Amino acid sequence: MSERVILFDTTLRDGEQALAASLSVNEKLQIARALERMGIDIIEAGFPVSSPGDFESVRQIAATVKESRVCALSRAVKGDIDAAAEALKVADQFRIHTFISTSDIHVQSKLRRDFTQVEQMAVDAVRYARRFTDDVEFSCEDAGRTPIDNLCRMVESAIRAGATTVNIPDTVGYTTPTEFGGIIRTLFERVPNIDQAVISVHCHDDLGLSVANSIAAVEAGARQVEGTINGIGERAGNAALEEVIMILKTRAARFGLEVGANPQEIHRVSQTISRLCNMPIQSNKAIVGANAFSHSSGIHQDGVLKSQNTYEIMTPESIGLGRNNLNLTSRSGRHVIRHRMAEMGYTDAEYDLDTLYQRFLALADKKGQVFDYDLEALLFFENQRE
Ligand code: KIV
Ligand code: ZN
Repeated sequence: MSERVILFDTTLRDGEQALAASLSVNEKLQIARALERMGIDIIEAGFPVSSPGDFESVRQIAATVKESRVCALSRAVKGDIDAAAEALKVADQFRIHTFISTSDIHVQSKLRRDFTQVEQMAVDAVRYARRFTDDVEFSCEDAGRTPIDNLCRMVESAIRAGATTVNIPDTVGYTTPTEFGGIIRTLFERVPNIDQAVISVHCHDDLGLSVANSIAAVEAGARQVEGTINGIGERAGNAALEEVIMILKTRAARFGLEVGANPQEIHRVSQTISRLCNMPIQSNKAIVGANAFSHSSGIHQDGVLKSQNTYEIMTPESIGLGRNNLNLTSRSGRHVIRHRMAEMGYTDAEYDLDTLYQRFLALADKKGQVFDYDLEALLFFENQRE
């Protein structure tokens, strides 16, 4: 039996935090249901103490979602934990996620305490959260910039207090993959009770390294990855979960790790979230961008028509997309024009490929991308001339 990587989605919490307009309860429910259908293990539904609206959406999601475990965020203070527990209690099982900063800069400038006081707050919060559920996650905010001795000490204390998952966030997306993987490896070497909790990671994308850092952490032993769909989130966003899923699936032979999510739901979930959050997806975004399964150069198109895996390391079908797309441009060859004409229902005998191809090139040079209706028009005018 291979080990499993738990997928923790925070689109509705860290992702929603970054939106210009907040989502309605109904929209959040739609997203939660889509994530549940996809097979996400843990859905972080919100931060209940932050507003009555957030409280209500966490409560409704906890009452509705059955297949994924619902989680809510709280600072390491009783009032927050009470609000989280109150919002979640309609569910049979739920997770409380409590956090406090551990880096020097946060401890001194934001919390204005010393590390020992912060450690005590973390321990008290975890113990208190355990009164409501046996599933408590503790996060060391800004772990990526926390001195390693302090981080080891905090992780050990949180586990001793009863945390069942300990999350190591790279809150400001500062680390590199070698560094971040090294932090996780050191925790496994130095924290004596580490095997009593799942080690999780939560990476931000300020330097564009969130997914690479998450994967480096998995290679070092982390078994929960946190992220959001389409990578939405604070500033440059969070690790894009669809990328994490497809890395672990596409390179399964390298990792040998199971992920529960059904990748065939990726396209649909991604589109739903982009639409509801009013966040367009950049066209060259890995996995879910409009160009992710499009081929433009003639050489690539010819290769893909001969064998799809020449230029596709995963199929569009594997993420629930109907098919790949061959863009007809001045770089396209005869082969792809013939292929497209056949798809449109034309036999070879119905047109002269050389003539059509010359006309196609002339048009493509003028307008860039050529569409099926352009080919129809070229053929129509060609027939008129005869
Ligand atoms: O980025 C972060 O550190 C967070 C924590 C609350 C987990 O979002
Ligand atoms: Zn975050």
